[in-house]
Amino acid sequence: MNGAASSPLLIVEDDLALQKQIKWSLDRFESVTASDRETALVQFRRHNPAVVTMDLGLPPDPDSVSEGFKLLEQLLDADPHVKVIVLTGQNDQANALRAINLGAYDFQAKPFDPDMLNLTIERACRLAELQAENRRLQALKQPDALGGLMSRDPEMLKISRTIERVASSDATVLLLGESGTGKEVLAQGLHQASKRSGRFVAINCAAIPENLLESELFGYEKGAFTGAAKTTPGKIETAHGGTLMLDEIGDLPHSLQAKLLRFLQERRIERLGGRQEIPVDVRVVCATHQDLNNLIKDNRFREDLYYRLAEIVVNIPPLRARQGDAVLLAHAFLHRFAQEQRRGVLGFSEDAVRTIEAHAWPGNVRELLNVVKRSSIMADGQRVTANDLGLPPAARDENLTTDGNTVSAGDLDLRAAREEAERRTIVTALARTNNNILKAAELLGISRPTLYDLMYRLAIK
Ligand SMILES: Nc1ncnc2c1ncn2[C@@H]1O[C@H](COP(=O)(O)OP(=O)(O)OP(=O)(O)O)[C@@H](O)[C@H]1O
Ligand SMILES: [Mg+2]
Repeated sequence: MNGAASSPLLIVEDDLALQKQIKWSLDRFESVTASDRETALVQFRRHNPAVVTMDLGLPPDPDSVSEGFKLLEQLLDADPHVKVIVLTGQNDQANALRAINLGAYDFQAKPFDPDMLNLTIERACRLAELQAENRRLQALKQPDALGGLMSRDPEMLKISRTIERVASSDATVLLLGESGTGKEVLAQGLHQASKRSGRFVAINCAAIPENLLESELFGYEKGAFTGAAKTTPGKIETAHGGTLMLDEIGDLPHSLQAKLLRFLQERRIERLGGRQEIPVDVRVVCATHQDLNNLIKDNRFREDLYYRLAEIVVNIPPLRARQGDAVLLAHAFLHRFAQEQRRGVLGFSEDAVRTIEAHAWPGNVRELLNVVKRSSIMADGQRVTANDLGLPPAARDENLTTDGNTVSAGDLDLRAAREEAERRTIVTALARTNNNILKAAELLGISRPTLYDLMYRLAIK
């Protein structure tokens, strides 16, 4: 992807006199031209412009807007980040709005005002440049198998590293965390990082009735019970060579706990009604939102099974305890939905950002995902406001500072405390500005190079 600085403008206009005129008025920009859709696409591929101005009425049917809209869609398909400025006829607000809804950056009515056009293009170039820089930073951030996991929180980053480190072993991993914290995302990340060639198979122990769960897990031979019409392998067998995720392991019935324990010790299974033992090689990862120690105390979970499963225990913090993550994730999700719905570039208003920061997110990332999705549909223009989020406005501020962000009493190392405070402030500023280094530096009252230095020193990626 080219930055705006290194690529020329593309001017699409079929009236050659007007084309020349536009080119002249924009003479401080380097530009290339096209007078129909096909040529425009060729020029677009060749020069990869960050900004395009285009007429909607193009040959073979210059009196209609169909070629123009087709071109607009093709340009956005080729590069969703391209900034397209549409030149519309006088009083043609309907088409202007339609173009914006499709993802055009802006419009100008003809006859165009050269100063306005210059200004709009300059802003578009600048935005394209900043966004390209953001994308470069994003790409640097996550080159690994845990790409589905977005976070800047130190605790979450530590967890990612743990997952990557243990991935290649066959140690059993137990993921503990509230609903919606990303247990499944981490389990899949673990599988990907393990490079195991088999499949990732997940089974939810809470969702399947006890009498069916056994055959789901272990499979059955034809005729093992009424209705067993043909031999069927279970989930454990299906995951051979891969990873088996036992979700909601706290809900595994007692009878099956003994059977699972036996499998974990011997690494062999016997299908229901079967006579032979089948060796199975799987990496097991379990997850639950329940407190297993309490279940053990109540005799609802076998302690010996717990120790088999808990070779590596990962405690996933709730979203409200992660520094800056709610806003970071909200920006990322909004970007994703805006693209899916072809809404162009959507952003949050300032009050929306504050509301996201202050909300406690009891449903964690899943709740955030749903709120952002709904608000991206509800939002009127290109901005999602606090109102669109539909969250209780009286957000409690203490959520920002409780949950592990305070320095503990024993921790009187001034340098460490200062670094921690610096880190937290920078991470918050980056989240608030959607990783815009320039704006974050402005917000922090430091220069961009200083911010880069600090990020490097504090290992903020
Ligand atoms: N750090 C993250 N970055 C990006 N997306 C995430 C992250 N964490 C969770 N998600 C997304 O949030 C949703 C919920 O995550 P997931 O299903 O992994 O949660 P869970 O802990 O398994 O929840 P439950 O206990 O309810 O099953 C998913 O759509 C997932 O893709
Ligand atoms: Mg889950």
